[in-house]
Amino acid sequence: MSAEVFLKACVNQPTEYTPVWFMRQAGRYLPEYRAIRSKLSLLEICRRPEVACEVTVQPVERLGVDAAILFADILLPFEPMGLGLSFRRGEGPVIENPIRRAKDVWRLRELDPKSDLEYVMETIRLVRGRLGERTPLIGFAGAPFTLASYAIEGASTRSFVLTKTLMYSDPQTWHSLMDKLAVAVGRYLACQIEAGAQALQLFDSWAGALSPDDYRRYALPHTAKALALAREANAKVPIIHFGTGTSTLLELMAEAGGEVIGIDWRIPLDQARSRVPNRAIQGNLDPCALLGSLDELESQVSEILRRAGGRPGHIFNLGHGILPQTDPDRLRRVVDLVHERSAAGVYQ
Ligand code: CP3
Repeated sequence: MSAEVFLKACVNQPTEYTPVWFMRQAGRYLPEYRAIRSKLSLLEICRRPEVACEVTVQPVERLGVDAAILFADILLPFEPMGLGLSFRRGEGPVIENPIRRAKDVWRLRELDPKSDLEYVMETIRLVRGRLGERTPLIGFAGAPFTLASYAIEGASTRSFVLTKTLMYSDPQTWHSLMDKLAVAVGRYLACQIEAGAQALQLFDSWAGALSPDDYRRYALPHTAKALALAREANAKVPIIHFGTGTSTLLELMAEAGGEVIGIDWRIPLDQARSRVPNRAIQGNLDPCALLGSLDELESQVSEILRRAGGRPGHIFNLGHGILPQTDPDRLRRVVDLVHERSAAGVYQ
């Protein structure tokens, strides 16, 4: 295996086989992760570079994927920015000082990723040392909209009521928050490139909560700014721009930036591709397909490869993160199937 396959696919160049990795490939479905997690909290793992390096590499060894993703969390910048961050068991993230009005935005601290998130940069350096030129390392950050939704709601949400209330009632405060997040994310990503990240993924996981008009007005300019700032470090590092529920937003996401557009399972891969013809596509197996029968799983994998049709610029992935109850052997099966079929040119 070489770093080339994944990195070439990101820029639409032909490869010997289709590269594959999985969102949340480091995590609770892996017994070796759970063993570490039983002793340390999520934030403790992130803040100890040797441990974060270890859990980053675990799925690469166990699954044979074509890329590693840095073990960190999109919410890590919140602590140094003064928002306060903790994770409660079973509840997900909790933001202690959420943003509700203009003065909450004024008091946000500017992120200095080099010192504030030095432990992330150290993890990147350790992982690069460990993986060498074998497997490329993907750095990542949350997009301004997805981060704003956590900063405003103070926790995970399904409805985005507080987020949209602020957006629609006080657009000036909204744009000032989004601008601060865009600068923080852009600098953070640039810093990850300098530390050795060979590709980046921008997670706009909840962008699909917005209509196209609202995405264009309230999110796109800020995502574009974040990506432009990241590019200042190195314009050649490929960027994957991912979101879920984005069937109506693909062209706008591509306009905001990214060589690769990451999609969920709700849109057929070939349809997505025809909407953003100059980009590579990442996706798009439903994570729940890993929980059903092996026959169903294999037929869904084959269908995705058929729709990709052997054209350059497909990175196989799930449409969202691996679920904790997933059997690691099923993921290994998917990796092998994607590699074997694509290397043999079998797309039916
Ligand atoms: O393997 C990898 O993907 C790398 C590590 C990674 C984590 N979080 C570690 C983590 C990545 C890429 C993320 C991204 C992330 N974090 C996103 C965007 C991706 C997505 O899923 O849409 C979001 C929205 C978050 C915020 C977040 N972190 C939430 C909402 C939660 C709680 C929900 C849950 O699954 O428990 C987390 C916790 C978290 N971050 C876990 C991991 C492995 C699971 C918690 C644990 O081990 O206790």
